[in-house]
Amino acid sequence: MKIARFSRIGFILAAAGSAVGLGNIWKFPYIAGEYGGGAFVLVYLLTVLLIGFSIMIAEMLIGYLGRRDTVTSFEELAPKSKGLWKFGGFQAMAGLLIMTFYSVVIGWIFNYIITSLSTLPATVEQAEQTFGSMLHTDIGTQLFYHTVAFIWITYVVNKGIKGGIEKMNLVLMPMLMVILGGMFLYAMSLDTFSKALDFMFMPHWEKINANAFVVAVGHAFFTLSLGMGAIMTYSASLEKNSNLVKNAFWVVFLDTLIAIVAGLMLFTFLYQYGSGPAKGPGLVFISLPAAFYEMGILGNIFAVLFFIALAFAGLTSSVSLVEPMVQYFIDRFGWSRLKASISMGLFFYLIGIIALLSNIDGFKDSLTWGDKNFFDWVDFFTAAVMLPLGGLVMAVFVGFVLPEEQVSSVMKSQLTWAYPLWRFSLRYITPVAMVLVILSLVGVLS
Ligand code: PHE
Repeated sequence: MKIARFSRIGFILAAAGSAVGLGNIWKFPYIAGEYGGGAFVLVYLLTVLLIGFSIMIAEMLIGYLGRRDTVTSFEELAPKSKGLWKFGGFQAMAGLLIMTFYSVVIGWIFNYIITSLSTLPATVEQAEQTFGSMLHTDIGTQLFYHTVAFIWITYVVNKGIKGGIEKMNLVLMPMLMVILGGMFLYAMSLDTFSKALDFMFMPHWEKINANAFVVAVGHAFFTLSLGMGAIMTYSASLEKNSNLVKNAFWVVFLDTLIAIVAGLMLFTFLYQYGSGPAKGPGLVFISLPAAFYEMGILGNIFAVLFFIALAFAGLTSSVSLVEPMVQYFIDRFGWSRLKASISMGLFFYLIGIIALLSNIDGFKDSLTWGDKNFFDWVDFFTAAVMLPLGGLVMAVFVGFVLPEEQVSSVMKSQLTWAYPLWRFSLRYITPVAMVLVILSLVGVLS
């Protein structure tokens, strides 16, 4: 089968596009806030380096050696005597599940781009009200923008790795960086910038507990797009002799840089114009618009640009969430790209409607089980269970299952002195951390 190959810069931007998503700009700042800023950021940086970076290389290696879709790569690489490992490709499913709510959230962002053009909420209470009424009562608006997201994503995936995914990332990623960079420079000129710096980097160790540690590991995973075949599927389209370590470094570096830049910028604005950082998940949809309001017309411009950047981050992640299953159906069942893209698109679109309805008054009750509605269950099940499980499988697969010669023949020359460290991390540090994350997040430890 012939696959269109990424250019080097195309691969790095596409993989970074996958990694830089709602996780960086929406989630990272608010969990950093919740777990006390500085100390949490340090723990997070350490996990990115020790665990995230090694798994990123391992995932790239499986794709690069397998050269096929995620499911087939596992099947072909698994040694005959270790038959069960060929099911490692189950993780490709996670992306479509994540997409069911991710697309709905991108829809909210589209809606905020349009509404921020004319009005911003004058107070946090008003912002809360606006967000709440969209979320709980407004089916029409949410459905409309969810549909726009579905069409956009399906269109790009249908154009393929080169003409769709690479092309979109080559345009949107630089634009995202320019928007965030520009807003960051403005934030640097405000007096509260130093407060934001303090908040992000001054460690308050007393706020760090086992839970913060687990959240840091879990987030490192989600934000780097690991454990669901996205990076693996992209890596199957790498040129031969690509340097996986350098590629992985760039992706991890850009992802981390953008999370920190976004965090510093948001906290500066919230200190300067709003009510300070600790505002929970509503940070970008509630506290931030109210802070932008205080800036007058400049606030509208910033709000629109900010939500555009957030939409770009979400869209470039989305295509990587859909592509693994699209590749699978093309590769294994001989489907045309059009048929595969539309089918996978409809899958997340239709189930996404259930996720959307599960926030709506009147539907909510029949779509809630235990303490979570459908939307939150999918989020929880994928992030807390599937991604870490995918990570565990990959670490053990590369660390123990693949013949050592096969791994070292590619990695030894690229990692040089760090090769034994990488292997050690995959065999011992990462698996233990993954098991802890899964256990604690599903509540066994708590
Ligand atoms: N990394 C993306 C984010 O930070 C989410 C994502 C997870 C994308 C897994 C692809 C795969 O939002």
